[in-house]
Amino acid sequence: KTAFGLFPYKGINLIRGVHQVEHLESLETFEIRDDDIFAVTYPRSGTTWIQNILSLLYHGDQMREGCNKKSIQQLVPWFEENIRQVDYNNMPSPRTFASHLHLSSIPQGLREKGKVVYIARNPKDVAVSLFHLHNFMKALESEPDFDTFLIQFLRGNVLGGSWFDHVTDWYAQKDEFDTLSLTYEDMIKDTRCAVVRISNFLGKNLDDKTIDTIADKSSFKNMKEDPQAKNDVQHPAFFKQSGSLIRKGKVGDWKTTFTVAQSEMFDKIYMEKMKDLPLEFDWE
Ligand code: PPS
Repeated sequence: KTAFGLFPYKGINLIRGVHQVEHLESLETFEIRDDDIFAVTYPRSGTTWIQNILSLLYHGDQMREGCNKKSIQQLVPWFEENIRQVDYNNMPSPRTFASHLHLSSIPQGLREKGKVVYIARNPKDVAVSLFHLHNFMKALESEPDFDTFLIQFLRGNVLGGSWFDHVTDWYAQKDEFDTLSLTYEDMIKDTRCAVVRISNFLGKNLDDKTIDTIADKSSFKNMKEDPQAKNDVQHPAFFKQSGSLIRKGKVGDWKTTFTVAQSEMFDKIYMEKMKDLPLEFDWE
């Protein structure tokens, strides 16, 4: 049995009662348009952040005061969840989606058309951030003990499945997609540069002022304060009273939670599983 109210689905674990297998299967043959953009991440790796950046890049006019303002969840919907029941087929182009799907269940048409922005984050910070999410979401069974949670994380028995499989499989096949790969840590180190890389990859020629505005509006502080920059599914049906999806936004927060023994155990497993992958993270 998969822990925490989850069920396994093609390389990742999803939430019973929230994700529907029939819907998920239908997504594999979802028709991709040339200008579709998918932000793909393992959970807690910068999804909301890239949703906000894509919203500002593509749908800035719909985020302004005075218009019928939309949330980033409407503008860059979660592909596999579709909580707001957005009609994907009637979305105007270019469509922008966010997804945690493993590459085996992502629409296979993405190999031929569309673009992917893949963000990876150092897995110790991911584990801590995911631990907080597990205890914040009503649909998941709480796990107050980090040690127990960490074992499940390393086994891939958490929301999103195995971090190692998600990241290594994407990196192994990324050249089969039109992909820009970023790390969360690079985005933190120089958010403006990340915005430039993302907009260049997407073929947008933005002036310096627009880039400055997007970088500023997607800073951690501004996103934490701006209700529009948050996923509006942060509502009582899904989440408990205390907690936040936009939590600390730091590199190295794992140090407040991991013991030395947990960190050493983690490093051993990490080095073994990641030894062939040319991917480096900042850990602090
Ligand atoms: S989810 O639930 O999978 O959609 O989570 P996701 O959005 O991928 O990741 C949440 C973590 O990203 C942090 N975050 C940010 N960090 C820096 N800058 C900005 N603008 C930003 N927005 C979100 C968020 O705080 C979560 O990390 P932790 O470590 O828990 O704070």
